[in-house]
Amino acid sequence: MKKIVVLISGNGSNLQAIIDSCESGDIDGEITNVISNKNNAYGLQRAIKANIPTKILDDTCFNSREEFDKALFSYLLDVDADLIVLAGFMKILNKKTTDHFYGKIINIHPSLLPKYPGLNTHTKVIENKDIYHGISIHYVSSELDAGPIIAQGKIDVKVNESLERLEDRIHKLEHIIYPKIIDLICKNEIYLENDSVRYLHNTGSKEYICNTYEI
Ligand code: GRF
Repeated sequence: MKKIVVLISGNGSNLQAIIDSCESGDIDGEITNVISNKNNAYGLQRAIKANIPTKILDDTCFNSREEFDKALFSYLLDVDADLIVLAGFMKILNKKTTDHFYGKIINIHPSLLPKYPGLNTHTKVIENKDIYHGISIHYVSSELDAGPIIAQGKIDVKVNESLERLEDRIHKLEHIIYPKIIDLICKNEIYLENDSVRYLHNTGSKEYICNTYEI
């Protein structure tokens, strides 16, 4: 069974969706460790409840950014996961880490990349009066939110939609798509080859890229 490590910084609702899917057999893999850079991340409670070993690498307890990066890199080497899943992990991984684990680290980002990399994506969508919003799942490269895109999901933005409601719908969408994609990666049905995402059953990216969801 594929070994999955999940990195979090906060609430961990995506972590919960992944835990639930592993428990129900909808993900053909096992979360072997959850790593947090915040000692008060609620996601740690979710992991403990599911009997998953947790590791806190509190970024405020390191003398420098380099030391934090070194500790994280060495921990990731130790746990030797098949797949490293970023789920609301709010630290940018250094180049040594993204290069070493290239093709093994995935991230979920709450926007239709390449639109809105970085923070506050929901606010930007509302301020710009966008009619669509969505999520992207991508392989992690050394450039922020810019690695090869595996899957995207799109929703209509409702008229006068509040930030809270939009954010809530985006989370629901994430909880549907992320576990599904993690399962396909665990089954080797999706993988990275020569910087391109390959889909084993030749459904092409069409099945995954920019489907519209009613949520
Ligand atoms: C998600 O919206 C994800 O796209 C972004 O951070 C958020 C994490 O939420 N990277 P949660 O901690 O999984 O609830």
